[in-house]
Amino acid sequence: MREKTFVYLKPNTIQRQLVGEVLRRFERRGLKIVAMKMLWLSRKQAEELYKEHRGKDFYEPLIKFVTSSPIIAMVLEGDHAVKLVRHTIGSTDPMEASGGTIRGDFAISVRKNIVHASDSLESAKREIALFFDESEIFDYQLPLEEHF
Ligand code: TYD
Ligand code: MG
Repeated sequence: MREKTFVYLKPNTIQRQLVGEVLRRFERRGLKIVAMKMLWLSRKQAEELYKEHRGKDFYEPLIKFVTSSPIIAMVLEGDHAVKLVRHTIGSTDPMEASGGTIRGDFAISVRKNIVHASDSLESAKREIALFFDESEIFDYQLPLEEHF
């Protein structure tokens, strides 16, 4: 099943200059980048994105962190993209994330766990719509797509 999912590279990924490393992992998986932009999250955008976590003890420091410096937001497309991307990034807590996953290989802090990805098709639709206009999401073919 062809799906689109929302991913963003957290501020520390840009600060640590790991953008290429992380994108490479998604590309090697066969995921297609269909939208991408750099932006500095406003408090309002961050609160909307993380509204399910409002009131939790990690909420305030999380909002502060994700608004501290620019991020890179994108839409990735592929078969079962939502689940595939979640597997590729690994568990939320880097201590639980397996080696070979993005978080397992690059993160030591739960809050600064490198990357965000939608946890369901429903959240993917909501999160993509928060950051991208229909006209910013591209429909194109990759030359080797049929081989994935
Ligand atoms: P969550 O949606 O549970 O994780 P995921 O990013 O894997 O979907 O939490 C959102 C973010 O909140 C998480 O990426 C990092 C931060 N967070 C903490 O700082 N401490 C915590 O204990 C948890 C659960 C999350
Ligand atoms: Mg989540």
